Amino acid sequence: MINKIVISTDIRKAVSEAVGAIPHDRLFLLTDETTDRLCRPLIEDIPCMQNAQSIVIGATDTHKNLDTLAAVWTALSNGGGSRHSLMVNLGGGMVTDLGGFAASTFKRGIPYINIPTTLLSMVDASVGGKTGINFNGLKNEIGVFRTPETVIIDTEFLRTLDHENICSGYAEMLKHGLINNSQLSTFSSPHIQS
Ligand SMILES: NC(=O)c1ccc[n+]([C@@H]2O[C@H](COP(=O)([O-])OP(=O)(O)OC[C@H]3O[C@@H](n4cnc5c(N)ncnc54)[C@H](O)[C@@H]3O)[C@@H](O)[C@H]2O)c1
Repeated sequence: MINKIVISTDIRKAVSEAVGAIPHDRLFLLTDETTDRLCRPLIEDIPCMQNAQSIVIGATDTHKNLDTLAAVWTALSNGGGSRHSLMVNLGGGMVTDLGGFAASTFKRGIPYINIPTTLLSMVDASVGGKTGINFNGLKNEIGVFRTPETVIIDTEFLRTLDHENICSGYAEMLKHGLINNSQLSTFSSPHIQS
């Protein structure tokens, strides 16, 4: 099933509409240590988010593992999460991958919304419904395909993103362009060879 992708210029409105569209008993907000500090302030005082229970995990791919996943399941369970709860994942691809998997497996699957905060997650990771964790030394070894209810893409979040992660997102965009567009591929090849 194709999910709903909202290209937002008004994050408050987009979040209100997306959260409001899904009836829920409890709301959970997953962030990593960095997005909790830099991105959560952009949405935390939206009325629909004020009762959200916050779950904060370590940042970067090294935390995309079973221990972190278990910590998120524990927080959902201890927070009274039910089949009718809703989860919002606010972060880069690490948060949307792990959060999407946690939501997809808790109580056999609760709905979730992705709010990507890196360029890479906006153009790729948050959108296609690929969720999962690294396991046994292997990348994305365990996971499921399950699409978020809504993906809210708002470039306002990119203001705090560092140069390295902006370049990482551009590289992903270039890769998709080269794979999908033969004209771009032909046009680009002299530059790559030089
Ligand atoms: N599911 C998919 O289809 C898919 C596709 C590509 C990549 N991925 C996965 O995505 C992950 C990589 O995603 P990523 O590149 O977004 O990395 P990331 O989520 O690890 O984020 C990179 C760093 O940027 C920080 N950050 C995030 N948003 C920020 C912001 N707005 N301002 C400042 N700092 C911010 C994070 O805290 C982290 O330290 C990998 O785990 C990869 O396997 C998944």
